[in-house]
Amino acid sequence: MSAAVCILAAGKGKRMMSDQPKVLHRIAGKPLLGHVLDTVAEVSDARPVLIYGHGGEQLQQALAARPLTWVEQREQLGTGHAVAQALSLLPNDGIVLILYGDVPLLSAATLRRLLDAATPSGFALLTVVLSDPGGYGRIVRDAHDEIVRIVEHKDASTDELAITEINTGIMAVRGSYLHRWLPALKNDNAQREYYLTDCVAAAVTEGIRVAGVFASDPVEVAGVNNRIQLAELERTWQRQRALALMEAGVTLLDPARFDVRGDVTCGQDTTIDVNVILNGRVRIGCNVVIGPNCVLTDCEIGDGAEVLANSIIEGAKVGRGARIGPFARLRPDTELGADVHVGNFVEIKKSTLAEGSKANHLAYIGDSEIGRNVNVGAGTITCNYDGAFKHKTVIEDDVFIGSDTQLVAPVRVGRGATIGAGTTITEDVEPERLVISRVRQKSISGWQRPHKPKKG
Ligand code: UD1
Ligand code: CA
Repeated sequence: MSAAVCILAAGKGKRMMSDQPKVLHRIAGKPLLGHVLDTVAEVSDARPVLIYGHGGEQLQQALAARPLTWVEQREQLGTGHAVAQALSLLPNDGIVLILYGDVPLLSAATLRRLLDAATPSGFALLTVVLSDPGGYGRIVRDAHDEIVRIVEHKDASTDELAITEINTGIMAVRGSYLHRWLPALKNDNAQREYYLTDCVAAAVTEGIRVAGVFASDPVEVAGVNNRIQLAELERTWQRQRALALMEAGVTLLDPARFDVRGDVTCGQDTTIDVNVILNGRVRIGCNVVIGPNCVLTDCEIGDGAEVLANSIIEGAKVGRGARIGPFARLRPDTELGADVHVGNFVEIKKSTLAEGSKANHLAYIGDSEIGRNVNVGAGTITCNYDGAFKHKTVIEDDVFIGSDTQLVAPVRVGRGATIGAGTTITEDVEPERLVISRVRQKSISGWQRPHKPKKG
């Protein structure tokens, strides 16, 4: 049976200095709580119970798509009080995982170790050793190295303050224990709070062993209390993604200047230059080169393609061997075939360009279907919008569009046609024709420019 899940997120997060609930602040573009929910979903298919306090409306709006059971903790009277609010929803049989909405980088592997350790006795605690344990609850062990108690920093003696093993707060506890212990918690401590951590002493009193599991890395259990910590965990997360890509055969010219905000796969021998941002679902093939300052969102880049500096790609598919940029912009529903070239200051929206076609300079292509080996000259514009509706432009294979052409959609240019520079296409063009619509050049001799008479 899957463990039940209870996530604490009622704290105000005062030090964030924010109108937004702390757990909605983002790491890698995803709310802190989203990280926790995604990780726990890897180890349990139970519907998590979320204990919230502040910003309930904002939270419910932001997390509407997530399957959650919402429990309000009106007053924050401590972690034990928080879990107690959900008691009626927590099963008696089976294990309850207690997690925190502001601890985003916990790994599923660690959660699995914690759950395994909880199996024999029904109680396991995640701890970590910190060189500076200040502020945290300390883990008190007996002569046999068994956990006997957690003492909060504010309640600790000088000897206890010297302990470097601390409580992460994350635990796996049999539901029936929580039902027994939580209603009996007292708040006779320095903070006048109901401490969840007092469950450890309750277990020991009953002869129930509390298994300790060490977190593999302190960052896994690091909480976010202010924006400095938020930025630190952002960097940690980014570093992890960068390392994983490098291990998979991707060259990052500077792993510290690379950001992933989503789910990215990248083939071998791809090179990514500095200040590249990958958002959403990005699929990059093998032997791809991504130049500096590119922003790629929800897109696919085929093998051997080159995306040159300062290009922005969103919702597009780029064929193998294509060359994009520098300074190109591909907007949603764009699909480029193999070996397509899109050069500087070219914007393409909701259009397809088949194999070998080129738009090398300064163009707008919208709502268009462009065949193979088409050359779109500099300054070409598809006039796809009449102020109310969008219309389609179709350009068949092997067409040559001269520079500074306007194509007033809806319009079709037949296979092999040539459009002279400066033409405004308003009617369909038959295949193989040359079409040109421009005023003939005049040459006037003896022309005098107007000039102002000199003053004085
Ligand atoms: C708690 C632990 C401490 C541990 C530390 C790890 C207790 C008594 N102490 O201390 O041993 O070392 O976490 O960070 O559990 N929360 C609620 N409702 C409340 C109080 C807290 O939802 O009434 C939530 C907060 O939103 C936060 C988490 O519980 O996410 C921890 O609360 P916090 O006050 O930060 O706990 P600490 O006093 O630091
Ligand atoms: Ca506290």
